[in-house]
Amino acid sequence: MKKIFLIISICIFAANSYAQNIVSEPEISEGEGSVSQTQIAIIPEPVSLMKKAGTFTLPENVSILASEGLQQSIAFLSERITIATGKFVSTVTTANHPTIKLIINTQNDNQLGLEGYKLNVNPTQIVITANKPAGIFWGVQSLIQLFPVEIESKELMENVKWKLPCVDVIDYPKLGWRGLMFDVARHFFTKEEVKQFIDNMVRYKFNLLHFHLTDDEGWRIEIKGLPKLTEVGAWNVKKTGTFGDFIPPTADEPRTYGGFYTQEDIKELVQYAQERFVNIMPEIDVPGHSLAAIASYPELSCTPDAINYKVRSGEKIMDWSRGAPPLALIDNTLCPANEKVYVFLDYVITQVARLFPFEYIHMGGDEAPHNFWEKNDQVKALMQREGLKTIPQVQAYFEKRVEKIVVSKGKKFMGWDEILEGGVSPTASVMSWRGVKYGIQASKDKHNVVMSPTDFAYLDYMQADAITEPRVYASTRLNKSYQFNPIPAGADPKYIIGGQANLWTEQIFNFRQVQYMLWPRAFAISEAIWSPIERKNWTNFVSRTEEHFKRLDLAEVKYSPAIYDPIFTVKRSADKQLMIELTTEIDGLDIYYSFDNSSPDRFYPKYTTALTPPKDAGILRVITYRGKQPVGRLISIPIPDLQKRAK
Ligand code: ACM
Repeated sequence: MKKIFLIISICIFAANSYAQNIVSEPEISEGEGSVSQTQIAIIPEPVSLMKKAGTFTLPENVSILASEGLQQSIAFLSERITIATGKFVSTVTTANHPTIKLIINTQNDNQLGLEGYKLNVNPTQIVITANKPAGIFWGVQSLIQLFPVEIESKELMENVKWKLPCVDVIDYPKLGWRGLMFDVARHFFTKEEVKQFIDNMVRYKFNLLHFHLTDDEGWRIEIKGLPKLTEVGAWNVKKTGTFGDFIPPTADEPRTYGGFYTQEDIKELVQYAQERFVNIMPEIDVPGHSLAAIASYPELSCTPDAINYKVRSGEKIMDWSRGAPPLALIDNTLCPANEKVYVFLDYVITQVARLFPFEYIHMGGDEAPHNFWEKNDQVKALMQREGLKTIPQVQAYFEKRVEKIVVSKGKKFMGWDEILEGGVSPTASVMSWRGVKYGIQASKDKHNVVMSPTDFAYLDYMQADAITEPRVYASTRLNKSYQFNPIPAGADPKYIIGGQANLWTEQIFNFRQVQYMLWPRAFAISEAIWSPIERKNWTNFVSRTEEHFKRLDLAEVKYSPAIYDPIFTVKRSADKQLMIELTTEIDGLDIYYSFDNSSPDRFYPKYTTALTPPKDAGILRVITYRGKQPVGRLISIPIPDLQKRAK
């Protein structure tokens, strides 16, 4: 009997795998007459997706039957359907044959866990089942992605046949912590923009907003009893251009640029996020990155000159020429040898812990410069008193005291991977950013780890050629982000609790640019942290990404078209000639170029082999086409720039 069961199981499994293979290439559903044909393009890729015969057509009256407690999913689904399709949506408590059923399992389905779901689209009915409301909500996100792309429109779309392919989906996440970090300190973003950020992230099943609330450029959260944090610390001088190179502001320039969230704002954001199954983890970044706090309360510094410090407006305050940790030109650290600092932190953390229900508080710990501490008498006395031999041990002393405060408020302590230096407390959790090696070691040492390595997951890095981008010191293209593996070889997977991408905003001055930097690389990260590694496939991902570009267009969300741009690699030949190689990140594009200052199109020379510029040429202009369609941006690079790159 057991044997027969096994044979049947193997047959079912084989049929399933075959079906998944079928859809690993883009599928076009029958959508004749519709404005667009819909490819099955779910991001992140589900664990299993089987396409069945037939299609489902949305009726004029859409009825939703749902288990108790699914208001969020009903509201989300109703809003999308109503706005774009104009159909009448109602919720029903009993119906013979409701259009959409959202059902919480009465018996736990172990395979699905807390966030998984099953989605069945049949010719006359859609059914989503899950163990928990979160699973239903993620199932609804997948369902929306099965609709024609026009479902993303903010207006009524006429002449669309609202047909969906029939499918059976079984899906659940690889990791329970799927984060996006939003730095609202370097540049402030409004409460409404943070809500938009959350709206966008849940489409791709991210469930954790890491809220970077404090830094040298701004303190963004009201702390009752410490009014200067937001009266002084939230404001700097408005500057435009390349952040980091700004001329230091003069004393008479108005400090009116910035902002902060009141405690009521924070409560509203926490609730908004919770209604979308997103937790918010606050970050108070100490002891480094603390200039806004010090400008507000100079007594938090060991350096007497701190009374003259101002919130940074993007002028140079660190010397990075020696690498990390940097050499501070002004002391942006809280004083580890000053008891007032711990009283201050207790005060802040008490309120932060009350405002954010999430179990973790992130206390930073990154890039704290040590050069002021090395020379400071208070720090030297602390070292003597506590038997600390090195400055990293001083930071470790600080981190342990901060962890105690965090734990005393009923929360878990997390820090950037620098907290591992100088001896870390066994209960600290680590966010690995300087590559994965610190995370691997920390997991082996039984620390909970969230992987967010710069190489793959730093979305502030440039994603296209530097000539088109705000200048940042490093690049990560989409194909690199797609290689992110949050559970790398050598790590103890039991302790890898999550993966996330980080969006630092030094060079991001507005919310459209936030979106541009997030998408499509956050698609790649979402797939890395949700989908099984065996389901990942770059070619297929690119094809789905292009479908989602149409969705973002309709939703009026900005994204980077960098995958269509040419990539320049510059070398010198044996006889010192400049050799310019052009490639593309995705297949199937042709590259056309000019050296004569005019804009190339597909009737210009097509790139086939490395180019050497004519002697007198001043500029190389390049564009990509797919067949007869221009797809990439016209990129123009002065030849002297290319010469410099070859050095
Ligand atoms: C970091 O990027 N400084 C954590």
